[in-house]
Amino acid sequence: MSSKPIIAVTRVLPPAGMEMLAEATDIDVRIWPGELPPTRDELATLIDGASAVISLVTDTIDAELLDQNPSIRTVSNFAVGYDNIDIPAATERGVLVCNTPGVLTETTADLTFALLVSAARRIVEGVEYVRAGKWQTWSPTLLLGQDLHDATIAIVGFGRIGREVAKRAVGFSMRILAVTSDPTPRIDRETGATYTDLDTALKEADFVCLNVALNDETRGMIGARELGLMKRSAILVNAARGPVVDTDALTDALKNGVIAGAALDVTDPEPLPADHPLIHLENCIVVPHIASGSVATRAKMARMAATNAIEAVRGNQPPNIVNDQVWEGRISS
Ligand code: GLV
Repeated sequence: MSSKPIIAVTRVLPPAGMEMLAEATDIDVRIWPGELPPTRDELATLIDGASAVISLVTDTIDAELLDQNPSIRTVSNFAVGYDNIDIPAATERGVLVCNTPGVLTETTADLTFALLVSAARRIVEGVEYVRAGKWQTWSPTLLLGQDLHDATIAIVGFGRIGREVAKRAVGFSMRILAVTSDPTPRIDRETGATYTDLDTALKEADFVCLNVALNDETRGMIGARELGLMKRSAILVNAARGPVVDTDALTDALKNGVIAGAALDVTDPEPLPADHPLIHLENCIVVPHIASGSVATRAKMARMAATNAIEAVRGNQPPNIVNDQVWEGRISS
């Protein structure tokens, strides 16, 4: 039996990452070959005896799994978000958690904006109309949408991605409201965004973009009350995490004209069942969690996730640690 340390990978990554893993000849790599995520039992079997796991947002890494698999010393998430991992449980057990920040910021902001433009200008309805053979002539009243220029956009979560969304909004001549956990009134120098609290932003915005991380504060942040504060003409874009929005409340709001539309990269649950109303409502666009999905960005994420895992297994400091205290504890012991 080989005595090399093992990195388990819960799905085939883009080639850039797989090549790095293959080149690490001091490490054995065990890859989940399925197109669908491993079940919990399959995941436990996959990581059995491994030193590190490269996980995806679809893999739940919790206390029970870590207790069952004490050989796992590093979890390298192929994502910037890490709400699929119980960070306190990992930290308590001295398990290093890494992610892929920075490289997907612009790509995610691009998709956020693409959703915004698509919903505002009814792009998907237009494509369906043409594909259905309904296009007979130019019409003065066909598929009229909303202008982005001069409209107000609220960006909820003004971190790396939110700021990039704001930069795109500047290019569209929009008025920008930035919602953070510190709403002290001030203007952001780079984008001209005005900081404001959530309720004010919801009331004033024509477009509300969610770009927050999922945590205890943001889970269920947008429910019936919040949707009720929005303009009837407003559009909600969620490129954050599905559970930030109450799915039933959003479905009702879209059905009853409480808001005009929604565009979702993420949903709760994910994926939505194929017959879910959000998928079939004309005023809702759903895409399958592809915000970071450009060829170049996924390659960068794959290299980053592989580097984090390889370096950790070799005993070196990985570049992108989420729970620094674990690393500090390791080097001081
Ligand atoms: C994807 O959703 C990510 O968090 O990177």
